[in-house]
Amino acid sequence: MAKTRTAYVCQNCGASASKWAGQCADCGAWNTLVESTVAATRPGTRPGVANATAVRRLHEVDAESAPRVGSGLEEMDRVLGGGWVRGAVILIGGDPGIGKSTLLLQLLAAVEGRLDTLYVTGEESLSQVAMRAQRLGLPRVDLPALAETSIESILATVAATRPGLVVIDSIQTLYTDTLDSAPGSVSQLRECAAQLVRQAKASGTTVILVGHVTKEGAIAGPRVLEHMVDTVLYFEHDPGSRFRLIRAVKNRFGAVNELGVFAMTDTGLKEVSNPSALFLSRHEEPVPGSVITVTRQGSRPLLVEVQALVDRSMVGNPRRVALGLEGNRLNMLLAVLHRHGGVALGDQDVFVNVVGGMRISEPAADLPLLLAALSSFRGRPLPTDLVVFGEVGLAGEIRPVQGGEERLVEAAKQGFKRALVPEANRPRKSVKLDLEVTAVSRLDQAMKFAS
Ligand code: TYD
Ligand code: MG
Repeated sequence: MAKTRTAYVCQNCGASASKWAGQCADCGAWNTLVESTVAATRPGTRPGVANATAVRRLHEVDAESAPRVGSGLEEMDRVLGGGWVRGAVILIGGDPGIGKSTLLLQLLAAVEGRLDTLYVTGEESLSQVAMRAQRLGLPRVDLPALAETSIESILATVAATRPGLVVIDSIQTLYTDTLDSAPGSVSQLRECAAQLVRQAKASGTTVILVGHVTKEGAIAGPRVLEHMVDTVLYFEHDPGSRFRLIRAVKNRFGAVNELGVFAMTDTGLKEVSNPSALFLSRHEEPVPGSVITVTRQGSRPLLVEVQALVDRSMVGNPRRVALGLEGNRLNMLLAVLHRHGGVALGDQDVFVNVVGGMRISEPAADLPLLLAALSSFRGRPLPTDLVVFGEVGLAGEIRPVQGGEERLVEAAKQGFKRALVPEANRPRKSVKLDLEVTAVSRLDQAMKFAS
């Protein structure tokens, strides 16, 4: 029998500590340490004694034996990098109620006939699943489904039926008999996922795991599994909006940051194949504080509206709030605006927001963000047919961004007539664009647009 010891495991990040504390020293989350027993040594292992295993040359290994399987849902395949690979383990995280079960049921229906599948639910009864399938109007509702939460039973079923694709909804409901801790705790989550990964690699079955993102930390979040799986997708949405974005944050078999867009309707999720103008709220009249930019999400340019509100602060410590953009970046840009643009916003509250619940992490949004703030501060609107992109450096220079031409082409396609871009992104003469392009290399040149 292996010796066991007690450890306090953070339910948010999985870090373990020898003593209880109110705050996890690793991720900083509060009240997430839970007492758990861990095996001090694994039974049957003795250090130093092992059999040699066969080493093979990479060029002898048949890499072609892993062709991609497309789901048939184009937006999903795009995010996965053109479908999944046999034996891959994919984690889909998202807030409860965002539509994970709906999407996966639709995905299973889409591959029906091409691939043997199994839908394992630990959250709903089979009749609830059947009702949902009916509501979705799925062409065939005879998908193999299993309501089970014991990982041992699930693995036995998978081994017996050998499906090509298994969906586990959700990993947080599973438990293994080998551990005492409650389902949903970090140790259960890790052990169940590890067993599924092992089976997937050994049998070539692709496994999709659903993980709820939790705020309270009472059940462990999908973050603790990210390193164990091949691909991590996150489902995001703007509260109140029917659009759902799905993004790859890790992908061993494709590019990350690809974005898939769906719309939630009465009959399930519908693909939005041309989302480039989705995040624009077209104003009738030009309004101060609104700037349209072209951001790149993976391989796809998207037009997005950045809004700012700059208002005299009533508190001693003016507020800086950034939604959909990085807060630190906002502070840095305001400092650049002061130092190189001569505009002091030190006594002003500054709020910035990306419309439609979109998140922009690339520096191409620097210039639009600064211009939006400036436009709000001065009460001067920018033209509604203008798009802006460019990185702003600490020395007040405007740096080029990747894929400049592609962004301009998309803006022209959506009917924009003017563009303000970094000098190095000025389109080549050979590129015919129905756009009046102004290229700038310094912040003060760009600021003329909001004066
Ligand atoms: P669900 O897939 O159950 O979310 P998750 O598995 O991520 O928790 O989706 C639940 C929400 O989706 C629920 O609020 C109702 C809504 N919905 C629709 O709007 N249309 C539909 O056709 C379905 C099936 C669900
Ligand atoms: Mg669900």
